Amino acid sequence: MKVEVKKCSPPSFRGEAVVVCHFEDAKKLAGAALELDRQSGGILADLIRRGDFTGKPAQVAVVYTRGALPVHRILLLGLGKKKEFDLEKLRRGFSKAARSARELGLAEFAICLDPAPGSPGLEDMTEAAVEGVMLGLYRFTQFKTAERNGLKEVRRLVFLASDGREATRMKAAAAAAEIVSKAVCYARDLVSTPSNEMTPTDMVRRAREAAVSGKVRLTALGPREMEKLGMHALLSVARGSMEPARFIILEYAGGSRGDKPYVIVGKGLTFDSGGISLKPPEKMEEMKADMSGGAAVLAVIKAAAELGLPLNLVGLVPATENLPGGRAYKPGDVLRSLSGQTIEVISTDAEGRLILADALTYAGRFKPRAVIDLATLTGACVIALGEDVIGMMGTDEELKNDLRRAAVETGEKLWELPIWDDYAELIKSDVADMKNTGGRAGGAITAAVFLGKFVGGIPWVHLDIAGPAWLSKERPYIPRGASAVGVRLLLRFLRDRAAAAKKVTGNS
Ligand code: BES
Ligand code: MN
Ligand code: ZN
Repeated sequence: MKVEVKKCSPPSFRGEAVVVCHFEDAKKLAGAALELDRQSGGILADLIRRGDFTGKPAQVAVVYTRGALPVHRILLLGLGKKKEFDLEKLRRGFSKAARSARELGLAEFAICLDPAPGSPGLEDMTEAAVEGVMLGLYRFTQFKTAERNGLKEVRRLVFLASDGREATRMKAAAAAAEIVSKAVCYARDLVSTPSNEMTPTDMVRRAREAAVSGKVRLTALGPREMEKLGMHALLSVARGSMEPARFIILEYAGGSRGDKPYVIVGKGLTFDSGGISLKPPEKMEEMKADMSGGAAVLAVIKAAAELGLPLNLVGLVPATENLPGGRAYKPGDVLRSLSGQTIEVISTDAEGRLILADALTYAGRFKPRAVIDLATLTGACVIALGEDVIGMMGTDEELKNDLRRAAVETGEKLWELPIWDDYAELIKSDVADMKNTGGRAGGAITAAVFLGKFVGGIPWVHLDIAGPAWLSKERPYIPRGASAVGVRLLLRFLRDRAAAAKKVTGNS
């Protein structure tokens, strides 16, 4: 989809459709809606007067102008009550409006935004609208050979700006939001792709797309290199599979040479059968999504480079399948991790923490400013927080606070769970330094406590995305299935951090 900004007053816009907004508790139409209403002899006010349109959140009415205006249709979009208005309402509303436009078979439509005093600014509103449209229209059609052709597609989105200055501001915001939204769609594609076409080796191939910018360097380690390093936790998980494990390293150098990088680590389990501790068959097909954290990491690096964020960033993705096989690792095995610490395997289905253990140890090499990992790690986290919420656990208050802020800004909800020292008791082993499960109680937490043993003293946050990574029902701008959760969250976090750093050094 192409996103454009055009200097044009709403009543003079010529085209198939234009979207304008209305608040539920506004006494009269305002902004662009009011302008269109005046020029058309009151076609919008009529809808509201007759009670057909109240302006409740994400309500969409299609109004035909029948020659009263150069535009053929007005899509009137409800934004709810002024006091309750936020960017999430805008994303949801514009997703709905975009789907209506597509349903009508429109190849393009225009959008008018009217920032009100005290409400989010024009840039933020533009970003939210682009996200709502692009994320709401996302579909995964790669394997629908019959349906694919003949699908209605919105190809162009035009923002109307009232003057040149506004146009400049909107253009920058729209371009950034387009990069972010494309990254989300890229990650959704990777996650939706079945494991027979998304092996660890395929992930490396897709990671090359993230490394197109000259500022990103891709290194992919194979089994022999990992063997040399001593990454036996990761290699053990891979033993049951014929597919070789890969360790993906993406380095983006957008900052100064000496700047400590942020390291983001994503679980890249391209298929999790549970291994010898085999999972029950129900919903096992969804375990192709066990590389959602890894997909998010690739997407974040790609977008960070395209945005030209002024910071250094490293993405690490340990990628493997977890299968039962003649050489598979087994319960009772003791593994020697890259850190030197030994791990007793209780369940081969607690494989995510094993591959992350070696990745987190490897992260230490970069002397990171902070480490953030994303993983579909535990069913326990889904039980604790539900399908919509990321479980956050970590050691650094500032990092956690900044992620909380990014969560509010993006609508990607997260909630903190504690990782008090007491929990470490639960993963003590009789034969090794620790065991890889701590029983059912507090399962999301004991998994995080396990990970913490491999982080060293670096500021660290673990995000358990087992709930929101794969959705059983669609959300306003997320289809059923792969959500690419974490991509917008981390990009918001990194953009905010980059902006804060700029302020401190004074070079804006
Ligand atoms: N990938 C799963 C976790 C998961 C479950 C993700 C459901 C998404 C939806 C992970 O590897 C796993 O199997 N975890 C086990 C850990 C247990 C054996 C301690 C779990 O949650 O049951
Ligand atoms: Mn598992
Ligand atoms: Zn898993």
